[in-house]
Amino acid sequence: MELRHLRYFVTVVEEQSITKAAEKLCIAQPPLSRQIQKLEQELGILLFERGTRPVKVTEAGKFFYEHAVQILTHTAQATSMAQRISAVNKIVRIGYVSSLLYALLPQIIYMFRHRYPDIDVELIECGTRDQIEALKTGKIDLGFGRLRLTDPSIKRLLLRKERLKLAIHKNHHLTEYYESGIYLSQILDEAIFSYPTTPKPNFATAVQSIFTELGLVPKKMIEVREIHMALGLVSSGEGICLIPETASDIGMKNLVYIPILDLEAYSPISLSVRNMDQSSYIPKILDCIQAVFKDENINMLHEDI
Ligand code: BEZ
Repeated sequence: MELRHLRYFVTVVEEQSITKAAEKLCIAQPPLSRQIQKLEQELGILLFERGTRPVKVTEAGKFFYEHAVQILTHTAQATSMAQRISAVNKIVRIGYVSSLLYALLPQIIYMFRHRYPDIDVELIECGTRDQIEALKTGKIDLGFGRLRLTDPSIKRLLLRKERLKLAIHKNHHLTEYYESGIYLSQILDEAIFSYPTTPKPNFATAVQSIFTELGLVPKKMIEVREIHMALGLVSSGEGICLIPETASDIGMKNLVYIPILDLEAYSPISLSVRNMDQSSYIPKILDCIQAVFKDENINMLHEDI
């Protein structure tokens, strides 16, 4: 069986007509009918009911259609991924979620540029979920994100678990926990700003899942567009918010940051690449991450997720 036979079959199902399918595929109708019959003979099943108009697919045909679409999609993705891998020696496109700009991403990219001046780096802001599609289509070659998502075509490495902190105004009553740290169960009555609003899932949904995992329900969660708004509102005395600890470098005035003691209160930082991609830029970037982590006294986890 050839891929073109699957393409013929899928087009006839979708067009519900041999004539329209033949037009779409730019082939004559009789050879298309013959190829469909040959496919039926090869499979030993009827894919279409006989004598019906519009063309009606059988139960077995419907099952085969679902799988044929998957095979064709998979083949198209494998093609574009392979083409991208072969083109990637000179330029690496790196997708990242914006909050990583406050974390160690700038240092890692700076080191990569310095070590490999012949490789151009293009940075593309892209949510963790969108990175999966962008890797498949070749829009990016590496993705740095914060969410726990899986896809069979994508390999993900957990690099580290960044602790979360509570941002509060310096005169807020919770400052008494500045030294000791605080549990999430102690902030349920506060107005908590979460961010960003879109695209979902995002840091806001991840924070919500931590509360849920702990069986906690905050009384008032208010969604705002982005982290600067959340911190600005906290600085105005309107409420509190959770941040990845590196975001405390943003430097909004009059804020203090309190460690959160629950073990679950972390944000995973991960690297996504195309499955089976053996390109040399992957160990190169991992070496840079390792070097920056070493400078910062961070243990690199390197776990498949
Ligand atoms: C980090 O802050 O740990 C990090 C950020 C971007 C890429 C890799 C690691």
